[in-house]
Amino acid sequence: MEYRELGNTGTDVSVICLGTMTYGEQNTAAEAFEQMDYALTEGVNFFDTAELYAIPPREETYGRTEEIIGNWLHTRKNRDKIILASKIAGPGEGWVDHIRDGKTRYNRAHIEVALNASLQRLKTDYVDLYQLHWPERKTNYFGPLGYSPKADSFTPIEETLGVLADLVQAGKIRYIGLSNETPWGVTQFLKAADKLGLPRIVSVQNPYSLLNRSYEVGLAEISWREQCGLLAYSPLGFGVLSGKYLHDASPAGARLTLYPDYSRYSSPQALSATEKYVELAHVHGLNPAQMALAYVNSRHFLTSTIIGATSMEQLKINISSIEVHLADETLDEIEAIHTQHPNPSP
Ligand SMILES: NC(=O)c1ccc[n+]([C@@H]2O[C@H](COP(=O)([O-])OP(=O)(O)OC[C@H]3O[C@@H](n4cnc5c(N)ncnc54)[C@H](OP(=O)(O)O)[C@@H]3O)[C@@H](O)[C@H]2O)c1
Repeated sequence: MEYRELGNTGTDVSVICLGTMTYGEQNTAAEAFEQMDYALTEGVNFFDTAELYAIPPREETYGRTEEIIGNWLHTRKNRDKIILASKIAGPGEGWVDHIRDGKTRYNRAHIEVALNASLQRLKTDYVDLYQLHWPERKTNYFGPLGYSPKADSFTPIEETLGVLADLVQAGKIRYIGLSNETPWGVTQFLKAADKLGLPRIVSVQNPYSLLNRSYEVGLAEISWREQCGLLAYSPLGFGVLSGKYLHDASPAGARLTLYPDYSRYSSPQALSATEKYVELAHVHGLNPAQMALAYVNSRHFLTSTIIGATSMEQLKINISSIEVHLADETLDEIEAIHTQHPNPSP
C-alpha cells in the first residue's frame, strides 16, 4: 500500500480508502466484516462512511452502515488502527426527510445531534475526519456541471466552522473536510479558517473518475496549493468503468440492475466513453477497473481513492490497483479519449 498525508495533518492515510455505503444494503454485516478484515491486512487504514448510509438512503437503513462498522471496531478492538471518516447529511427535502425532516442546517444544534449519534453507532468517542456531506447552499453538485443562481439562505460558513472547531477542541473530531463542494465553497471555508484562526479543511470528497474529471477545472489547483487533497468517490462510476454494463448487459445483483434510477454514469455518452476505455485497457492487457482506479490513484491532487466493492473478488481487484502503474503511452491514450469524450458524467 502507498500512503499520503491527509492535508497538512501529519496523519498518513492509505491511497486506497475503503468505501462502505453498501454495508447494510447490498452487503450483509458478515460480508462487511470480511471486507474490513481483508482491507486492513492489505494496509488500508482509511475507511469512509456517513450517517446517511446504507445507500440507497431509506429510513429503515439510516445509520446501519455506521452500526456495522461500530460492531466491527468493537469486536476487533482496533479503533487505533483505522483513520475513520464520517459525514453529516445536508438538507434534502423529498429524499432525506427521515433525517432531521430533510432540513439539516450546518449549525450547532444539527451538527451536535448528528455527530453524537454517529459516535454512538460507531462505538467510538472520536472520528478522525468529519465531513459535511453536501453543501447546505443551493449549488451545483450531484450531477449539474454548471451553477445557476437560486434564492437560498444558509448557515454562515464562519458559524459552521466555529461549531466544528469546538468539536475538535472537545476531542470528538480530529480533522474536518467537505464533500460535493464547489471551488467557491472550499475557498470560503479556507478563508474563514485563516481569518478566524479556526481549523482548516483538510480534504474535499468529490466525484472523480475517467467519466468525470470536472474536479480538475477549479478544485485541483486549490487542492495542491492549499494542501486539501481530493478524496475521490465513485472512481468506477458506480462500476460502469469495469465494462460490465456494455452491450446492454444488466448483470444480476449489480447496482444499476437493482437501482436503475441511478443513471449518473450510464448515459449513452458515458457508455460510449467507457467502451473506449475498456478497449484501451484490453490493448494493454490491463483489467479495465484497475486501469480506471490506477488513473485516479496517480493524480497529483489526490489524497485517497474511495473504492467500493460488493464481493471479495472486486475488493481484491480494486485494492491491488495500487500496484498498477500506467505507462506514459497509456496516459496519452487516456487523454485522447478524454478529449473526444470530456466528462460525460459530471
Ligand atoms: N460523498 C458522496 O456524496 C459520496 C457519493 C458516493 C460514494 N461515496 C463514497 O465512495 C465510496 C465508493 O463509491 P462507489 O461505490 O460509488 O464507487 P465506484 O467504484 O464507482 O462503484 C463501486 C461499485 O462498482 C461495482 N464494482 C466495484 N469494483 C468492481 C469491479 N472490479 N468489477 C466490477 N464491478 C465492480 C460494485 O457494485 P455492484 O457489485 O453492485 O456492481 C461496487 O459497489 C462509497 O462507499 C462512499 O464511501 C461518497
